[in-house]
Amino acid sequence: MKLIILAAPGAGKGTQAEMLSKHFNIPTISTGAILRKNIADGTELGEIAQQYINDGKFVPDDVMINIVSKRLNEDDCKEGFILDGFPRTIKQAEALDESDIDIDKVLTIEVDDEKIIERLSGRLECKACGSTFHKEHRKPKTEGVCDNCGGALTVREDDKPEVIKDRLDTYHTQTEPLKEFYANKGMLRTAIGQEEIAQTSAEVLKALED
Ligand code: AP5
Repeated sequence: MKLIILAAPGAGKGTQAEMLSKHFNIPTISTGAILRKNIADGTELGEIAQQYINDGKFVPDDVMINIVSKRLNEDDCKEGFILDGFPRTIKQAEALDESDIDIDKVLTIEVDDEKIIERLSGRLECKACGSTFHKEHRKPKTEGVCDNCGGALTVREDDKPEVIKDRLDTYHTQTEPLKEFYANKGMLRTAIGQEEIAQTSAEVLKALED
């Protein structure tokens, strides 16, 4: 399965990508996670990305296309992968289209903006492995500690309320048009992500059946 997940920030892309990665036994390529790792490691890419992310903006297309095409050519992606966070603009989608990488399906997860704001303001993230938790909806077994690797849980810089609003605006203007782009190719599958995580996971698996 070669899958793109296309959804607003906080709609549950990362959460569902984690579930699908286990279900299909394929890796998740999260562009947000790649960028945050580079920021944490203080690389040149991290320095470029930091300001865009902190302002709720997208990192330039050329930079992202380069990162993803290199990553998808690695051996672990040969049998399939989940793209979480790429493409996010028409230019990125066209670059993927023109590459030799074939995509099977594009999944969109639909959630209202109000619910997204509530989810993101309660999100906790493991800096070590990138797993996400929530203060109410997905509590870790031990407060402040990642269930998967024992790393420390933190609040992301771009989960501050004023940045969340900018991220949503950027999503609606630049990423949402991709739904039509992929619907026209017959690749789009839609899941409603409004309800709790287990129910959303069931919706997601059902949407990917055909
Ligand atoms: P990225 O890391 O991809 O961030 P994002 O798109 O803003 O998505 P999130 O990771 O915030 O949300 P999610 O949908 O994965 O939600 P989650 O599952 O955690 O990118 C970060 C930044 O990098 C971008 O803003 C951009 O600047 C840059 N960037 C990345 N890719 C780029 C690209 N291709 N081009 C240009 N720039 C790029 O869920 C959220 C919370 O809700 C969690 O706490 C979770 O536990 C909880 N939750 C999830 N589902 C449910 C549910 N059903 N019910 C209740 N709670 C739930």
